[in-house]
Amino acid sequence: MKKKMNIAIDGPAGAGKSTVAKLVAEQLSYLYIDTGAMYRALTLAALREGIDLQDGPALTEILSKTTIHLQHEQSGVRVLLNNEDVTEAIRMKDVTSNVSLVSSHEGVRLEMVERQRKLAEKGGAVLDGRDIGTYVLPDAKVKVFLTASVDERARRRYEEQRKKGIPADFDQLKEEIARRDQLDSTREFAPLKKADDAVEIDSTSLTIPEVAKSIIELAKERAR
Ligand code: DC
Repeated sequence: MKKKMNIAIDGPAGAGKSTVAKLVAEQLSYLYIDTGAMYRALTLAALREGIDLQDGPALTEILSKTTIHLQHEQSGVRVLLNNEDVTEAIRMKDVTSNVSLVSSHEGVRLEMVERQRKLAEKGGAVLDGRDIGTYVLPDAKVKVFLTASVDERARRRYEEQRKKGIPADFDQLKEEIARRDQLDSTREFAPLKKADDAVEIDSTSLTIPEVAKSIIELAKERAR
């Protein structure tokens, strides 16, 4: 049987990557791998242990002793940190504002990338992140770079928070997104960048199902 392909979806924070990736994976019966959740889980572990987040070797050391599992259940993906369910905890503000720093260290990235490649080695996976098409899976058959304006991304986050009953400030969310964009795209090792062979999709005025549909069409074309 022909090996299933991998699909890489990269882009800045809040562009809709995870929602789109989940939908694409569901419709193709592929595995969804949220690589951002892995960096978030490590950030949570480091914050709990009071590690200096500037200290790359210390973070790499904790990571080597940490298991991070993405458990697929009917209700969605649960994130397990040393077998503890941290799905909600990794979305907290403290984690969000520190994850770019944690993920900027080369040692951390090398280990994470190795784990991500292993998860995708059999094919049939949709990975979302920042460096999937450029670094983790440079041979992925389908590479998408998903963008949206900063205003639109902040608006989506604001709505998301509001629906969850979490108080949010639009300007603060916008600032936070712009700050993460800046950190993620200027870090030295494997920064956020469109791969030369990625298809860029601007989702500012598109719905999630519309974006998912174009990615699925692209996958079908490439499978021929
Ligand atoms: O997709 P997200 O917002 O959950 O990602 C959280 C952070 O993790 C993001 O700001 C940068 C980092 N990240 C990364 O450096 N490389 C990836 N492949 C995925 C995420």
